Amino acid sequence: MAVDLLLGLQWGDEGKGKIVDVLTPNYNIIARFQGGPNAGHTLVFNGMKHVLHTIPSGIFHDDAINLVGNGVVIDPVIFKNELEKLDDQNLDYTKSLRLSRKAHLILPTHRLLDAASEIAKGKAKIGSTLKGIGPTYMDKTGRNGIRIGDLELTNWKEKYRALANKHERMIAFYKVDLQYNLDELETEFFKAIETLKALTFIDSEEYIHQSLKEGKSILAEGAQGSLLDIDFGTYPFVTSSNTTAAGACTGLGVAPNKIGDVFGIFKAYTTRVGSGPFPTELFDEDGETMGRVGQEFGATTGRSRRCGWLDLVALRYACQINGVTQLMMMKGDVLSGFKTLKVCTAYNYKGKVITHLPYNIEAENVTPIYTEFKGWSEDLTTMDDASQLPKELNDYIAFLEEELDIPIKIVSVGPDRKQTIFR
Ligand code: IMP
Repeated sequence: MAVDLLLGLQWGDEGKGKIVDVLTPNYNIIARFQGGPNAGHTLVFNGMKHVLHTIPSGIFHDDAINLVGNGVVIDPVIFKNELEKLDDQNLDYTKSLRLSRKAHLILPTHRLLDAASEIAKGKAKIGSTLKGIGPTYMDKTGRNGIRIGDLELTNWKEKYRALANKHERMIAFYKVDLQYNLDELETEFFKAIETLKALTFIDSEEYIHQSLKEGKSILAEGAQGSLLDIDFGTYPFVTSSNTTAAGACTGLGVAPNKIGDVFGIFKAYTTRVGSGPFPTELFDEDGETMGRVGQEFGATTGRSRRCGWLDLVALRYACQINGVTQLMMMKGDVLSGFKTLKVCTAYNYKGKVITHLPYNIEAENVTPIYTEFKGWSEDLTTMDDASQLPKELNDYIAFLEEELDIPIKIVSVGPDRKQTIFR
């Protein structure tokens, strides 16, 4: 058996949670491999909306094991809140949820460091979700981090204290106005740690290896999007993990030759939250309409997302980096009613037409070149079969498939599980 991957191809918020939930009946194990509570995966079914931050999106299916892999960073306080929401629904996760011993913990002081760093950056701020993601991955690569497996050791609190004290000195170094009460933060942190300790910790790379040998099917669930990847994204306006396919290998301990299908998810247009370049961004009524109709507000921070036309230069790049084998187009319904749609197929880069993503995509270097399409007016949200899709949408899809040379297998026409059209 192989591990299939499901990844976002843009700047996150593509709708990965919904598709993982839809695909979970085909898999025995759903595994998150990177990121942390900066993610907000939204699932809608039976008239209810659920937002997951760290817990994999297969948790609502009784038969699936949900694994939080070694590449993920876990905030015990946010994790406990997520568990409590599941408790409210009488969902028993005790047997189905497993945490990798090698996953790193986000400490209260990591969150404070994130805030201090952003304040110090001023106008150059990343627009971080302020969940402590960057500082936690910094401690991981700096070989200072505290991992889930440490909680099974007797001396982990000493390690915690030494690290938290160091963080306090670093916060002071920033010389910014940041008010906090660490005692209060630590009280809720240690309480949440006790909740975490009641869960099942495993050597997840071994578990995955054995599961594959036993013929179990595994879906690796990515968070954020390829353009937020620490190596291949729009650095420095990126997150701190590898959001691309390679991140699944390191974030779960899966060998590259054990990767099967790579499902790439993209919106029929583009959004971005936080700072950083965005060549096809719209500042007009069209962008405003996308944001309003698409309800483009962050599931984690509530911030408005920036909106723009689909950017095929960036999408092609993401397909290439990830080795995408199947595409899934989300939020096609949001484009209903636009008279004309635009798709960026190339950039004018310093006077030259280019079709690859260059090092520098700031507005002063790059002007998008668009192909225009006739829009459609039909409401897609009640459609449930590919034969019902309007001709103009089929033309749009056919163009994208040809340009990207990858089939679009799912067209999502609304947030609900049921609003999913298979092609
Ligand atoms: P951080 O990972 O919270 O430090 O945020 C770094 C950048 O990634 C910021 O621009 C965030 O808005 C963006 N980001 C992080 N997580 C997500 C996500 O799940 N969806 C969309 N953007 C995200």
